[in-house]
Amino acid sequence: MTTVIERASKSLDLSVLPMFSGFRQWRGTCEKHGEQVISVPPSVKSWVCPVCVSQKAAKTLPVEWLEERAKALMTVSHLPEKYVGQKFVATSDEQRRARQAAKLFYDQVTQKKVWASLNLVGETGTGKTLLACEVMQRLIVGAGMSCRYATSMGILSEIKESYGTEGKTENGEIQRFADFDLLIIDEIDQIRGSDTDRLLLQEVVNRRYNAKKPVLTISNLSFESFGKAVGARIASRLSENGTVVLFDWADQRRIAA
Ligand SMILES: Nc1ncnc2c1ncn2[C@@H]1O[C@H](COP(=O)(O)OP(=O)(O)OP(=O)(O)O)[C@@H](O)[C@H]1O
Ligand SMILES: [Mg+2]
Ligand SMILES: [Zn+2]
Repeated sequence: MTTVIERASKSLDLSVLPMFSGFRQWRGTCEKHGEQVISVPPSVKSWVCPVCVSQKAAKTLPVEWLEERAKALMTVSHLPEKYVGQKFVATSDEQRRARQAAKLFYDQVTQKKVWASLNLVGETGTGKTLLACEVMQRLIVGAGMSCRYATSMGILSEIKESYGTEGKTENGEIQRFADFDLLIIDEIDQIRGSDTDRLLLQEVVNRRYNAKKPVLTISNLSFESFGKAVGARIASRLSENGTVVLFDWADQRRIAA
């Protein structure tokens, strides 16, 4: 297990990442896939359909594709700019354990076709989103895997945007979130909405579960209370081959201030 982690981390070159800073959201229409939004750095001057790009990338041979594929995958990942190229620094044993859990999860995701969940729970400012985004960047750059970052509310609003939009369907939008190799659901406990909202999110998680595609969730609640917030059916799936990491150290935003 450990050797795999070490080999994987040596092949990573996070230095290609800073070129992705200054992202903007760009909406365009693909003849095949309808309206799509991509987030791109200022250097990108022409719009590309993210679905076409990832389909094309999936067919590319693993020769010198990594960098090209990483660029393509970054445009569809919606990685928040703040965390681009950032690393979670572990200074305590608890933080080192969190890093280790993230490495093991990285291994599970790269094995493919294994349902697994990593659930980062704890107080605000403890580095949960940072660690999740580091895992995501490593998967993109080191393993050429397709990843998507979104908040639960973001997922719901993207699905609902399909209502009445030509070329988009609710089913298609749910499937889009189900298809990424890894989906990060930040603020999973923040679904304030109706039962319909919970059902939509449940459908995303369930399709991923059925397809053995891992999920990384982040929440401020304890794992038990977030079971109540997200509903028993999501919580049950997350607990199967799931790891919970408790972030119970000081708010790093206050320390930095
Ligand atoms: N271990 C760490 N190493 C380096 N920077 C860190 C670490 N932990 C937190 N930070 C920094 O502290 C800030 C807060 O981290 P982050 O946004 O990941 O917190 P969070 O746990 O997701 O908080 P919230 O629950 O409020 O979303 C960021 O600027 C992040 O880069
Ligand atoms: Mg966060
Ligand atoms: Zn397309």
